Amino acid sequence: MKISFCCTDTKAEPWLAGLRAAFPADHVEQWAPGAAPADYAVVWAPPQQFLDEQPQLKALFNIGAGVDALMKLRLPPQAAVVRLDDAGMSVQMAEYVCHAVIRHFREFDGYEADVKQGTWSYRKPRLRQDFPVGVMGLGVLGERVARALAQFDYPVLGWSRSAKTIAGVQCFSGQAGLDDFLSSTRVLVCLLPLTPDTQDIMNRQTLSRLRPGGYVVNVARGTHLVDEDLIALLDSGHLAGATLDVFRTEPLPAAHPFWKHPLITVTPHTSARTLREESIAQIAGKIAALHAGQPIASLAGVVDPKKGY
Ligand code: NAP
Ligand code: GLV
Repeated sequence: MKISFCCTDTKAEPWLAGLRAAFPADHVEQWAPGAAPADYAVVWAPPQQFLDEQPQLKALFNIGAGVDALMKLRLPPQAAVVRLDDAGMSVQMAEYVCHAVIRHFREFDGYEADVKQGTWSYRKPRLRQDFPVGVMGLGVLGERVARALAQFDYPVLGWSRSAKTIAGVQCFSGQAGLDDFLSSTRVLVCLLPLTPDTQDIMNRQTLSRLRPGGYVVNVARGTHLVDEDLIALLDSGHLAGATLDVFRTEPLPAAHPFWKHPLITVTPHTSARTLREESIAQIAGKIAALHAGQPIASLAGVVDPKKGY
């Protein structure tokens, strides 16, 4: 069996060492143009040439949860695409989103600014029921985030493609449920995959549906959000702020208005990082299962090419 590693912007050596430790009798190598084809591949944003040189590939393992970059490429038709299934990301995402929501709700930014001025001040406590949090995307990450927010007694809503039942979360689904979901939400969290259906989903029309004083937390992909529409709604006062981890262009260009907007908090695509050891263990387990003859459908995280996630 041959495993090829082809990940841009990733230090290859520790991944190769981890995969070699999992498969000591097999051939694990970093891809170079013209290399012999592999049976399995571990990838992140691979070049098209890599994919074009893989006639016998059985599965491509993406070292992230989102496969949007991969789905834009011409994939070997016989190869399944498998994304990371949690692998330590959901707890990070729950931490990040709860932190952003709590920081906004409890006005910790305001307290921090007051304390820096040497001011001992009190703000009137806000009512939790006035801050319903709506999570778009109730998959591996979104469901964990919604459950974590519910632990803090926020009213929590969720929206997904198929109907769901999650304790403590009021669930909406499909286009038919979107309007009611948005109009009942004040803090909107995006955890959707990026697909043709979800691109630009946070725009002037949808964000205007949020309750007044709305807040946006985007931890999915930059292209879910129409930047100018967010800024216009912040400047008009309909929205109170945003925490953004992902951007249309990354790194966020130096001249982009998000950097300096007083109501926007920017983080550098770090809400849920790929954890190398956990990811290698997950991918190695799946390669071993496939190699032993298990059907691909028995694995978690197999991407449906028709849905694009
Ligand atoms: P997932 O398990 O595939 O969940 C996707 C969720 O979105 C599902 O609930 C799905 O509905 C819903 N959905 C998809 N298309 C929809 C549509 N058109 N309308 C309504 N709902 C729709 O994905 P995940 O593992 O939770 O990851 C979600 C995304 O987070 C990734 O794709 C990635 O872009 C992003 N991410 C970001 C970071 C970061 O550091 N910022 C890290 C990891 C992941 P169904 O349940 O009905 O299918
Ligand atoms: C990160 O953004 C991922 O998709 O894993």
